[in-house]
Amino acid sequence: MKILLFGKGGQVGWELQRSLAPLGEVVALDFDSKEHCGDLTDLEGIAQTIRDIAPDVIVNAAAHTAVDKAESEPELARTINALAPGVIAQEAQRSNAWLIHYSTDYVFDGSGEEPWLETDPIGPLSVYGSTKLEGEQFIGQSGCKYIIFRTSWVYAARGGNFAKTMLRLAQERDKLNVIDDQIGAPTGADLLADVTAHAIRTAQQTPEVAGLYHLVAGGETSWHGYASFVLDYARKAGIELKVPPEATQAVLTSAFPTAARRPHNSRMSTKKLQQVFDLTLPDWRFGVARMLAEILDK
Ligand SMILES: NC(=O)c1ccc[n+]([C@@H]2O[C@H](COP(=O)([O-])OP(=O)(O)OC[C@H]3O[C@@H](n4cnc5c(N)ncnc54)[C@H](OP(=O)(O)O)[C@@H]3O)[C@@H](O)[C@H]2O)c1
Repeated sequence: MKILLFGKGGQVGWELQRSLAPLGEVVALDFDSKEHCGDLTDLEGIAQTIRDIAPDVIVNAAAHTAVDKAESEPELARTINALAPGVIAQEAQRSNAWLIHYSTDYVFDGSGEEPWLETDPIGPLSVYGSTKLEGEQFIGQSGCKYIIFRTSWVYAARGGNFAKTMLRLAQERDKLNVIDDQIGAPTGADLLADVTAHAIRTAQQTPEVAGLYHLVAGGETSWHGYASFVLDYARKAGIELKVPPEATQAVLTSAFPTAARRPHNSRMSTKKLQQVFDLTLPDWRFGVARMLAEILDK
């Protein structure tokens, strides 16, 4: 099997390089790859790349993920998050390749308290959310064989992440304010990559699995709950923190004004994915604890 991966340097792209390797030959590209165009702003270039490589499976992990910045550069965000996936899907359709793509809980308006189903009405609040939604729609309209995973709150041990920021701030300050009215599930890039590899294998045998799936870790928390878990773990691991446990305070989203609006309810039901692919999604604490062990237990 020949797999073409766009966005190899991102959180998910990096883990995909590992998880896809046993499936076959992987051609992994970034926006500045030399031999083939991997820049999603170059629509002709990526179409040519797909024709040149003729993959069986295309995995698109590249995206404009700077949610606040997207508000001031909507055209760039639309090109990368919507037009490029549309072109990739057309080329996949033309060559009968599978397309695996990632989308987001930001396609929803964040109302209510129930986990979102794949069939629930969408209502993005931000440029990022609406461009990701348009990307989903272009893929759906293309007629290609696709799997789209909508995920949320993605972290990885490599590079910067929320947990590392909390640990740094907790060593510098004696009080922390953390948002408590956005609820979701921190989801590891490694979990996304492993489920992707499993889904590709399944799709080779049972093409009927094509479609849209919600893919997040089990359980739910707020950013405050997430931060508290991280800081508790660090204290137990013997890391000295300036912030005492009672000084990690829960605040409302309105305490941190941002350019882009974020959904309050990012809960997503993964029932469909678990049933169709016969998978169990571990609780978010499992993956976050592993990530913390990697970054702290040196
Ligand atoms: N991160 C989250 O919390 C989250 C939540 C829900 C859904 N998702 C979705 O999950 C997928 C993977 O996200 P991630 O967390 O791995 O994000 P990420 O770490 O930001 O990775 C995205 C990658 O795309 C690259 N990229 C940006 N512009 C590009 C271009 N013009 N051409 C080619 N590559 C370009 C980025 O490069 P630079 O870093 O150099 O810009 C980065 O390597 C995306 O579809 C994202 O929308 C993410």
